[in-house]
Amino acid sequence: MSEPARPSRRRLLAGLAALAIARPAVAISVAETCGRPGAGGLSAVACRRGIWFGSAVASSDLADPAYAALVAAQCALLTPTWEMKWKPLRPGPDSFDFAACDRLAGFARQHGMALRGHTLIWHMEMPVWLLQSLSPASWEGLLERHMQTVIGRYRRLVSSWDVVNEAVEPEHGRDDGLRDSPWLRVAGPDYVVAAYKLAGRFAPEARLVYNDYGCEHEAEWTRRRRRAVLRLLERLRKADAPVHALGLQSHLRVGDAFDAAAFGRFLGEVRDLGLVPMVTEFDLRADRVRGADEKDRKTAALAKAYLDTVLAAGCDTVVCWGLSDDKSWRAAEEPDDRPLPFDRQLAAKPLYQALEDALSRSAS
Ligand code: G3I
Repeated sequence: MSEPARPSRRRLLAGLAALAIARPAVAISVAETCGRPGAGGLSAVACRRGIWFGSAVASSDLADPAYAALVAAQCALLTPTWEMKWKPLRPGPDSFDFAACDRLAGFARQHGMALRGHTLIWHMEMPVWLLQSLSPASWEGLLERHMQTVIGRYRRLVSSWDVVNEAVEPEHGRDDGLRDSPWLRVAGPDYVVAAYKLAGRFAPEARLVYNDYGCEHEAEWTRRRRRAVLRLLERLRKADAPVHALGLQSHLRVGDAFDAAAFGRFLGEVRDLGLVPMVTEFDLRADRVRGADEKDRKTAALAKAYLDTVLAAGCDTVVCWGLSDDKSWRAAEEPDDRPLPFDRQLAAKPLYQALEDALSRSAS
């Protein structure tokens, strides 16, 4: 019996290429980043528990070699503070400018890190041309092209996408608690469902996150926000929209009430919806506290209480919104504040220790 014809090398390679395209890319995992060269600091402690630790970074931050080295040593995950938003990415309706975002992506790849995709829909940083061209007829095509291009470019590097950021605003008086944003005005409240379904088409392997602020402390306005966030997440689940996690921005403030039991109950409702809680923009404002030592003491204590609660609820990601105090988004108006784990001379502070202790203790 004659031997079956051996497939030519070309046909074999073509078959492998087709297989690769057909198989969805696998999003980078925290385990993959644990073995990255130079892994250390908080990400090494977090890795042992299967937890991502990282920081927000602006591409301009990386021009400082000492800060770049600190980020490389401490972080397994980076969130672009600005570079992946519409305004910097989209100079015009038919153009993309990936230069700044590619610099951040290149740094992440060089150091074996992942990126967070922040953010595909937000009511801020919308270029003027987008605001002028959004309409009931145009919005879905504009969003689809943006998502397909941006997700496609960074798909292998991004472990989770903030598909929609800050879509609720109970003070706007809507029954559904949604923000009266340009997206809602042209597309109606179901734009959120459409956004997650679109993102799920372009990144079926990635974690899709709803990201928001003001759910952490205990006050009437935060309880209203929690209810609005839960209502939105229920809406997404009922519509079979692929949403996998709630991104808690976690911009905390010393002196605002924190009730671990009440916050824990809210996190329980999030888990009951099948979602993972994530800490996505962690920093602690101590503007009401006088003196560096007292600021450090109180931020560390609040960080401990907060992180213990959120990690106990299954949080598997902690991203600080910067690593050193000079990189804080409030550094200009509050230069004496100390909201981040390292001081302006890149020395670790008590907040660093609080993060390390909480990540070491976490059960997950
Ligand atoms: O670097 C550019 C410069 O090249 C350009 O000429 C100039 C023109 O305005 O803009 C500069 O970029 C600034 C960018 O920060 C620098 O990183 C933008 O103006 C400025 O708007 C941008 O602010 C960011 C803000 O979001 C708005 O996008 C902050 O860095 C960033 O920390 C902040 O982060 C937000 C999260 O995305 C959502 N949660 C709240 C958080 C804090 O506000």
